[in-house]
Amino acid sequence: VSTVAIASGKGGVGKTTLALNIALAFARRSWKTLLVDTDPLGGVGRSLGGTTTRAGGLVEYINGTAGLGGSVLHTREKELDLIPFGNLPAAQLASWMAAASDPNHFRPVLAECSATYDLVLVDTPSGLGGPTAGVLGCADHLVIPLQAEPLALRTMPLIVEAVAAVRAAGHPIQIAGLVPAMVQTRNEVSLAALQEAFRLFPEDTVLEAFVPRDPIFLDGSAKGVPVGLLRRRSPPVATVFDQIAAELEPRIGLSEEEDYEPQPLVD
Ligand SMILES: Nc1ncnc2c1ncn2[C@@H]1O[C@H](COP(=O)(O)OP(=O)(O)OP(=O)(O)O)[C@@H](O)[C@H]1O
Ligand SMILES: [Mg+2]
Repeated sequence: VSTVAIASGKGGVGKTTLALNIALAFARRSWKTLLVDTDPLGGVGRSLGGTTTRAGGLVEYINGTAGLGGSVLHTREKELDLIPFGNLPAAQLASWMAAASDPNHFRPVLAECSATYDLVLVDTPSGLGGPTAGVLGCADHLVIPLQAEPLALRTMPLIVEAVAAVRAAGHPIQIAGLVPAMVQTRNEVSLAALQEAFRLFPEDTVLEAFVPRDPIFLDGSAKGVPVGLLRRRSPPVATVFDQIAAELEPRIGLSEEEDYEPQPLVD
């Protein structure tokens, strides 16, 4: 079982959008998937699970007032469960964030989740401290959304250095891939940033599948729902997350990259 962190350092690059939408894609590819929200301001589970107020979440799970069962939200999608952030009084936020920078804050609960699911995806808040640091210190793999614009590219060394520091300290987290996000296929500056990313990073670091910029994601974020569940007929853009999930599978140890012999269409 792999634990996969979604993190970027830079805020607003599409982490939560990527996490929520690939969680659905992996679940539809029949992996028993859990999405964990470590962002105090995160909206994962806000409406997917149906109920708005509930007893538990990650906060309660970690402090022991709820078990895994009391923290998990089952979704309408058979193989997809969520752990929302939970309830934390504003006065305790600063001390929780500080404690969360220690990997031991998450390790026991993520280990228990890993025993129950095929895949545990962990969404993180912006910034490299707090929960992001804690999660990087115990996750197996890291997926980084790469916003296709020049400024976002310039902030990439920060997260790459953070990963190098975690590895140097003895935790062998691996970068599974950079997923181009908010790509504007008709904008030269956006495309140039993407080209630059392919040039800067070692071959195969940047995925071929990408998330285009599309106003439908605003609607998805507002409702806390993957775009594949927004309309009666899944919008065309939802298919990119199946491609991203397929490309990530061998990189996060879910499947072997096997030799595939093309099948003849007729015998
Ligand atoms: N591909 C996209 N096209 C258009 N808008 C997008 C796209 N991806 C995300 N957005 C929008 O950009 C905003 C930020 O996205 P999102 O919340 O996924 O980023 P984030 O990295 O999780 O942010 P934070 O660092 O605050 O957690 C949201 O309003 C979202 O709807
Ligand atoms: Mg987010």
